[in-house]
Amino acid sequence: MKTRKAVFLGLLFFVVCCGCVKEAKVGKPNLSPDIERRVEKLLAKMTLEEKLGQMSQMHEIYRKESLILENEIRAGRVGSFLNFFDIEKRNRFQRIAVEQSRLGIPLIFGADVIHGHRTIFPVPLAEAASWNMALAERTAKIAAREARAAGIDWTFGPMIDIARDPRWGRIVEGAGEDTYLGSLMARAKVRGFQGDDYGDSERIAACLKHFAGYGAAQAGRDYHTTDIPERVLRNVYLPPFKAGVEEGAATIMSGFNDINGVPVSGNRFLMTDILRGEWGFEGFVLSDWKSVTQLIDHGVAEDEQAAAVIAATAGVDMEMVSSSYIDHLDELVRKGKFPLSIIDEAVSRILRVKFRAGLFENPYTDVAIAPKVMLADEHLEIARQMARESMVLLKNENQLLPLKKNVKSIALIGPLANSRKDMLGTWSLGGREEDVVTMLDGLKKALPNCEINYAKGCDVLDTSKDGFNEALEAANNSDVVIMAIGESAELNGEAHCRTNLDLPGVQRELLHQIHATGKDIVVVLFTGRPLTIGWMLENVNSVLIAWHPGVQGGNAIADVLFGEYNPAGKLTVTFPRNVGQIPIFYNMKNTGRPEDPTDPYTTKYIDVPNTPLLPFGFGLSYTTFEYENLKIEKDKVSMSGSLTVSADIKNTGKYPGEEIVQLYIHDITGSVTRPVKELKGFEKISLKPGQTKTLTFTLSTDDLRFYDINMNFVAELGKFDLWIGPNSAEGLKGSFELTN
Ligand code: NOJ
Repeated sequence: MKTRKAVFLGLLFFVVCCGCVKEAKVGKPNLSPDIERRVEKLLAKMTLEEKLGQMSQMHEIYRKESLILENEIRAGRVGSFLNFFDIEKRNRFQRIAVEQSRLGIPLIFGADVIHGHRTIFPVPLAEAASWNMALAERTAKIAAREARAAGIDWTFGPMIDIARDPRWGRIVEGAGEDTYLGSLMARAKVRGFQGDDYGDSERIAACLKHFAGYGAAQAGRDYHTTDIPERVLRNVYLPPFKAGVEEGAATIMSGFNDINGVPVSGNRFLMTDILRGEWGFEGFVLSDWKSVTQLIDHGVAEDEQAAAVIAATAGVDMEMVSSSYIDHLDELVRKGKFPLSIIDEAVSRILRVKFRAGLFENPYTDVAIAPKVMLADEHLEIARQMARESMVLLKNENQLLPLKKNVKSIALIGPLANSRKDMLGTWSLGGREEDVVTMLDGLKKALPNCEINYAKGCDVLDTSKDGFNEALEAANNSDVVIMAIGESAELNGEAHCRTNLDLPGVQRELLHQIHATGKDIVVVLFTGRPLTIGWMLENVNSVLIAWHPGVQGGNAIADVLFGEYNPAGKLTVTFPRNVGQIPIFYNMKNTGRPEDPTDPYTTKYIDVPNTPLLPFGFGLSYTTFEYENLKIEKDKVSMSGSLTVSADIKNTGKYPGEEIVQLYIHDITGSVTRPVKELKGFEKISLKPGQTKTLTFTLSTDDLRFYDINMNFVAELGKFDLWIGPNSAEGLKGSFELTN
């Protein structure tokens, strides 16, 4: 029976898979012979201790006394520092490395510059909701400019983990649940940080993280185990990394998780076979914070020495914070128990990046630049634009929004209306509260003659309702209520996972009581993840997600509320109805028993529908758009051909607006089960009222490839459905066939 099945599958494979190719090496090695020569020459002069020094990244908090640190640098026992924000001290340390250490190898300073340095942009999940890759590149470019001026050579970004579980606090740091969009975002961010040359004085080296599969943490709990079949790993989690490598990312960070039983920071399959072997990556791999010595906690290394051996052999070149390499590898090499060649290879990769970053020529930071660059007008303008474009309108009953500018009085209620730190969001190490325009500031500035009755109501995590009366009074005395509620910045990000995705604290009750006044309510929702907001969507008039919008948040919110900007953002993560639906994402499988309302024995719950509260790709506008005339160039397309598909999109409402038009496919029959939908293209267009645009997409065989039953990356012959629409749940549907 087994043999027959194998023969059948083999035949099937032969028949369907003419487009079968193993993926070619994709890296952009771009090795310069000059740099290679310099690396080789320098390496030849280095002692073993100096080599291990290059493989060590330190954080100040672990070697507190500057004197000890300075001695370590002088002895060549440290190659890098992280999250070091003092320019003067940076230059002092760099001077010791360059002028007082034996070989004068400069330090490289890395930092978490995740969504801006001083000019803080919206959190990454918000930026993704703009679907504007050019703008996302621009914000990274600005971040690079400011970071470089602050003495940072290298960012630990972009974070490109696909995340399908909103309980996981780090969902905020990435582009959401979709691989296609996530890959484009990875490219945009690498281009923005690095430009063509990260040695440029206004660019920094990028670091793709967290390699790999970290977003699949079991039960949405941070640092938790992941079990990801290789096919899912390659189809879903790895493509953004591959895209980032193709774009020339200088470095990669290995993550905290274990995957299929092997911690990723000791995973040779990932870091050597795939990353270097298949993709041709020429940069270096940095561990995450102590993730090398955490191999002991994972239970795959007995002690630090064993951890160092496993991680270095697997392909981690630089160790962040822990010191197992410098403490143990020396002795092992001397005893002939560890190959020097692995160390030489790692050090070469690190030196290559240091040369390319221009650190040998320009090791110091000119302190005069920072004041001219930080928060430059252009930076703030882009921050405001990105914040506007990232907002997602979820509901707008009776066109309550945009609010009239001559509104006499507004009640502005909620704990996030005037909170500076929460506008910055998670990972804003270089950001400052004093730079933030809050919602209260923004509204006052936009409507100087309007009476704004502000009442906090409660704190985000409050259990007390003492502030409710003041809030109710404000509501009763005003024409309209705007509520600024949701998650504070500290409720998401690293190590901030939740099992309850309702509005935290007593905010829900506050909303209920304000709703009972009968006033029109606009909710401006601040969050870094999907929340379960069914009641809110049913009961208030308008809901706008503002995420954690950055330093210009208040101005951008006012722009949207009063119609200076018509919102166009669309969700890049599915919003569940309740936590029990998680994981829920748009590109799930059909199952052998797809939902059928007439048959109880089909895949469904008995208490909630299968559909989410809000689908991936969803977002409204103040205007309306109609989709018509889907045209598919031909019914059949050959493996070597391509297919153009088009649709007309018309602005049928009163306002000019932007629409993010999305293209999805469904590969109906495959050698393995295929997702019910997959995003394959999108475009953001502007339309005046009454205007129609025809949008054309071209699909090629490359867009149809996936890892098949034999783990080959192929497009398979057969039928496909296709949609052009406003989100993953709606659209004009057609079909085509891929033939020989
Ligand atoms: C741990 C986080 O996982 C990682 O994303 C970050 O870059 C490092 N800490 C350094 O702060």
